[in-house]
Amino acid sequence: MTKKHLITSALPYINGIKHLGNLVGSMLPGDVYARYLRQHGEDVLYICGTDEHGTPAEIAAEAAGKSVQDYCAEMYDVQKDIYGRFGISFDYFGRSSSPSNHKLTQNLFLAMQENGYIEEREIQQYYSHADHRFLPDRYVEGTCPSCGYTKARGDQCDGCGRLLEPTDLNDPYSAISGSKDIELKSTKHIFLLLDKLNEPLETWVADRPEWPDGVKGIAKKWLKEGLQPRCITRDLKWGVPVPLDGYDEKVFYVWFDAPNGYISITQDWAAAIGQPDAWQDWWKNPDQVHYTQFMAKDNVPFHSIFWPAMLMATQQNWKQVDYIKGVNWLNYDKGKFSTSQRRGIFTDTALDLYPADYWRYYLMANCPESDDADFTFSHFAAIINKDLADILGNFANRSFSLIHKYFDGKVPTTLDNGLDQDLMAKLTHLVNEYESAHKDMRFRQAMGHLRAIWVVANEYITVNEPWKTAKDNLDQAGVCLTHCVYLLRLFAILGHPVMPTISQQILGLLHDTTDLSCTPFKAGLNFTGFAAGHALADPMRLIEKIEDTRVEELTAQYRG
Ligand code: 2FM
Ligand code: ZN
Repeated sequence: MTKKHLITSALPYINGIKHLGNLVGSMLPGDVYARYLRQHGEDVLYICGTDEHGTPAEIAAEAAGKSVQDYCAEMYDVQKDIYGRFGISFDYFGRSSSPSNHKLTQNLFLAMQENGYIEEREIQQYYSHADHRFLPDRYVEGTCPSCGYTKARGDQCDGCGRLLEPTDLNDPYSAISGSKDIELKSTKHIFLLLDKLNEPLETWVADRPEWPDGVKGIAKKWLKEGLQPRCITRDLKWGVPVPLDGYDEKVFYVWFDAPNGYISITQDWAAAIGQPDAWQDWWKNPDQVHYTQFMAKDNVPFHSIFWPAMLMATQQNWKQVDYIKGVNWLNYDKGKFSTSQRRGIFTDTALDLYPADYWRYYLMANCPESDDADFTFSHFAAIINKDLADILGNFANRSFSLIHKYFDGKVPTTLDNGLDQDLMAKLTHLVNEYESAHKDMRFRQAMGHLRAIWVVANEYITVNEPWKTAKDNLDQAGVCLTHCVYLLRLFAILGHPVMPTISQQILGLLHDTTDLSCTPFKAGLNFTGFAAGHALADPMRLIEKIEDTRVEELTAQYRG
């Protein structure tokens, strides 16, 4: 039985425009995979949205001088627009703050409670007298016990990256007012008894041998150390209310509601298409769905352990993830990309500088899959100039200008006397490799195969020299250039998952109406369909090279 494909990309935080590291870590590979599967006739649902709760959202809204509701609504529109311009083909891009997620999260919580996985406990927490409130997570700052950084946040140190509890900090103060008049007070919170789920999770993870080693390693490490009960409430106003008496001043912790957003956003999608129950086919039908998640590696514990544990604790037969694609870091000029420090290239800036497909190709060709990768403008320019301009673009230019020069811009002939066998053998091999790399989500390798296919096409035209043969054997030149027309159509089909716009432009140049979104790779190896005399468009430069001087300017302008 073939299964439907549910795909989710980690929900980007609402607190600002995301950088290229976020894009390559979750949304872009998710999109490439979704497009690849749709092209091959699979039934795909691709879901994402903004992650809107928690202290980062409240703090960012405060800094922007807006109510958190207004801030989130605006940033949702901004982010959605950017991903649209990047060609990310979500079936639905929703919000974790939606009424559907409030309802779902509360219901999931009540089921966990019913099944004995919830406990109320008294804990010690910082209370600020100046601010008249408790200080969760990032609302406390202080000195990192590991590295001495003096502005470490209550949840994590930006100096050394260590995850922290507010009580770990030395010289703590309120991040709201700066006041040091804070004291530990006891207060009630809700805990999820993850320790009770250690064993079933071990069995569940062992049942997923196909997970990538890095992901399995992270999950197993947490389980081996033994899961501890985890506090799932916070003293905040913005978030999902806790449906219990005495919790009016508290909401659920952001990581308790955010992943449920995958389900609630699917519910919002179902409502939007006018089939309000359609979400159940994806989340309540575990055997008929294959579920793949995309995320950066720091999100892996939440997706491989904590969320599966939550769903298990409900005992409600939810679809659980089948495969987790965890992506390493993309660094910026040997340092970290950072949203809070505005370091790196942000997605809005990227689109102002170059077309989306340049970024899409570059990021997938250098996807930090097995290791971290480093972004510099000179590396970016080298890849665009070499792969896209010199190999792909140049092949298109050569083919088009020769067809216009010698054949009046029309497909020269039909290939009745057979195809170039050597060319077809090479292509068939590489297309197979390319397809299996996509299937396994080995994106870097996939891009290597795509580039190799462009190289084979260049070698073909170079060896056959139609610019020479056209002078004394026009038929021979015509056969070669007709092959080139089909090669360009092949490039458009193969390029669609990663470069949807350039692929569509190539098709436009061929005056071809193939629907790239549902044409499988192998269909591109069928070199029939263009009648001799079929008119092509005027030549057009597909790719603009990036000059060295521009690289220097950009490097200086965006220095970290
Ligand atoms: O790390 C992040 O960007 C989180 N906002 C990811 C959340 S994923 C999901 F669980 F919501
Ligand atoms: Zn530190």
